[in-house]
Amino acid sequence: MRQHALAGLALLQASSTIAEYVWPSIYDELEDIMMLQSGYIRKGFSDAVSPCSFGTNVEGRQNAAEWIRTAYHDMATHDAAAGTGGLDASIMFELDRDENVGSAFNNTFGFLSNYYSVRASASDLVALAVVAATNRCDGPKVPFRAGRIDATEAGPLGVPKPEEDLTTHTNRFATAGFNTSDMIEMVACGHTLGGVHGVNFPQITGNSSEGQVSRFEGDNSTSSAEFDNVVVTQYLNGTPGNLLVLGGNDTTNSDKRVFGADANETMNALADPAVFQTKCADILERMINSVPSTVALTDVIEPVEIKPYVNTLGLNSNGTIDFGGRIRVRTTAGTGRNNNDLAVHLTYADRNGANASGTITSTQATYLGGTSSGLFREVFSWFEFATTLDPSTGASKFNVHVTTPSTGVVETFDNVGQGFPLVDAVLYQQPQSCRVAGNLTITAAVRKDRAEEALTLGLVHKVPRQGVVIDALEVRPVAFEKTSVEKSGYILFQAHSSLSVDSYSTTFDVTLGEGDAQSTIEFQRTNVLTDTCKSL
Ligand code: HEM
Ligand SMILES: *[C@@H]1O[C@H](CO)[C@@H](O)[C@H](O)[C@H]1NC(C)=O
Ligand SMILES: *[C@@H]1O[C@H](CO)[C@@H](O)[C@H](O)[C@H]1NC(C)=O
Ligand SMILES: *[C@@H]1O[C@H](CO)[C@@H](O)[C@H](O)[C@H]1NC(C)=O
Ligand SMILES: *[C@@H]1O[C@H](CO)[C@@H](O)[C@H](O)[C@H]1NC(C)=O
Ligand SMILES: *[C@@H]1O[C@H](CO)[C@@H](O)[C@H](O)[C@H]1NC(C)=O
Ligand SMILES: *[C@@H]1O[C@H](CO)[C@@H](O)[C@H](O)[C@H]1NC(C)=O
Ligand SMILES: *[C@@H]1O[C@H](CO)[C@@H](O)[C@H](O)[C@H]1NC(C)=O
Ligand SMILES: *[C@@H]1O[C@H](CO)[C@@H](O)[C@H](O)[C@H]1NC(C)=O
Ligand SMILES: *[C@@H]1O[C@H](CO)[C@@H](O)[C@H](O)[C@H]1NC(C)=O
Repeated sequence: MRQHALAGLALLQASSTIAEYVWPSIYDELEDIMMLQSGYIRKGFSDAVSPCSFGTNVEGRQNAAEWIRTAYHDMATHDAAAGTGGLDASIMFELDRDENVGSAFNNTFGFLSNYYSVRASASDLVALAVVAATNRCDGPKVPFRAGRIDATEAGPLGVPKPEEDLTTHTNRFATAGFNTSDMIEMVACGHTLGGVHGVNFPQITGNSSEGQVSRFEGDNSTSSAEFDNVVVTQYLNGTPGNLLVLGGNDTTNSDKRVFGADANETMNALADPAVFQTKCADILERMINSVPSTVALTDVIEPVEIKPYVNTLGLNSNGTIDFGGRIRVRTTAGTGRNNNDLAVHLTYADRNGANASGTITSTQATYLGGTSSGLFREVFSWFEFATTLDPSTGASKFNVHVTTPSTGVVETFDNVGQGFPLVDAVLYQQPQSCRVAGNLTITAAVRKDRAEEALTLGLVHKVPRQGVVIDALEVRPVAFEKTSVEKSGYILFQAHSSLSVDSYSTTFDVTLGEGDAQSTIEFQRTNVLTDTCKSL
């Protein structure tokens, strides 16, 4: 349950240099996609690049390589001076171009579409894909910032092709904001994975068979599935492997020209494995942060120490308010917190801000060890809570107390002094909501003192686009209507909407009132709904 004004505050803070995390944030979903890879609660974003060689069992395919190539091709036509193009997912409209040959781009967007939402733009997901692929290939940590906005149409031509000359390539990179040594680094860091595919470039591999690939770092080594500098050392040593260096037709030996563009100065530096990792982290970060000037990226998204997940805040049939969810506690090495020596409880304040008596206990989750792990070896422990609140006094915020039982030490988390906010003016009645074939019914309970204010369902519709894997997202508001059901000082309202097949799994907000007094329940998912709206 999220207060609209607070989400806005989090956004403002995100654009300043040092901002403490405030819950809730509109970037919580992206942090989850990044930090919940496996375990008790998992998003599994990096499944497709684990291990680094994984190609969904399609011969010759390597998802990690496809993801990084997709990001580069999307960014390549950035114009730094004009502030246009860059990482904006415009490539999804540009797949009929010979500069974007191959299935890599559609494969990538096909996977990313599972994570795409109003809280995770396709371009942020492409950027995160570079971060995840690099991480899962044992490469360096590439910092991730969010906030990219998706293009709605194709951008200009200009992705480098292997038969173009060095001046063309140097100029293209320069326009995008990268000098000669940057260009060399970016190409070397990209061409550590994957290779040239016969179906896409038969003139280079000399074999047009489906599944044929000539890997940059040689077909007989495991290096192509490792974010290492073998592509550099074999270039310097003249070792065969990279067909863009030692291909039979010199016209398409673009890596040879690019790598040698500064008399090998940059390549000689990259021959040091540690330098390679450092330079790649930096250049890939600059690559994914090349965005249109209209985009303001957030601070680097860091793992959140204490993150609440409110799953339930609604009236039950007994007339009390069910309040349930989970607390995620960061237990990564170095936090000083140990999964085997932790306890969590909550305290909360009533509707008027007065401390409520009593605490809300939680139970440590046990399924799959009760922990989740994320990129960069992050680890989290989970605690589950479920209680009932008195609807006459309600709740406005809570604090989280993390205890180390063996020492009795308690850490209190109060969300930067303001408490973790709860909205009780409008409650989402999930059991009274349902999804039947093409129809969605959402039920909300509004506290009587605010029952005359406007109540709106903001349902996100997924609108397919011809020839594009990623749907457009359109929020179409629907007004709620008052029902005759009243309980415990609340009145039930319902909103109905048709739901196309494409939008069956989507998200919605419920907004009560306007301006400063607005109360919003944000980013709820339809896929948890059953086909029966239960009565209260
Ligand atoms: C002058 C610039 C560049 C040229 C001419 C170029 C050219 C190529 C070509 C011809 C392929 C083979 C594609 C296929 O057969 O599917 C390829 C693959 C690849 N490129 Fe580049 N590239 C350039 C820069 C980059 C950069 C800057 C990156 C990323 C940082 C990158 C990442 C990749 C990756 C990961 C692959 C392997 C894809 C796979 O195996 O599916 N390239 N590149
Ligand atoms: C290219 O730019 C990088 C980063 O700004 C800088 O460190 C490097 O010295 C520049 N290289 C050249 C050849 O100007
Ligand atoms: C071409 O590639 C296919 C698939 O990798 C392979 O089976 C075949 O032997 C290759 N042909 C030649 C002539 O190398
Ligand atoms: C890989 O090994 C095979 C068999 O030893 C050899 O015929 C082939 O030339 C090698 N390929 C590369 C790129 O080194
Ligand atoms: C750069 O290295 C390549 C590969 O070893 C070599 O062929 C070339 O001559 C070198 N260029 C210079 C200017 O030393
Ligand atoms: C080399 O590649 C270029 C560009 O693809 C092509 O125009 C030319 O015909 C090729 N040369 C040979 C000898 O195949
Ligand atoms: C209603 O209250 C009874 C008695 O306290 C309890 O057993 C039951 O689980 C409650 N039902 C709900 C939906 O909370
Ligand atoms: C309860 O009261 C104390 C002291 O006034 C305050 O520091 C704390 O934040 C309150 N707890 C909650 C959950 O609001
Ligand atoms: C959806 O709701 C409308 C209006 O209530 C109704 O006419 C229609 O039959 C429903 N469709 C389905 C598939 O339930
Ligand atoms: C990519 O997918 C779209 C939508 O399914 C399709 O129309 C298009 O032909 C595909 N493009 C390529 C290059 O596979």
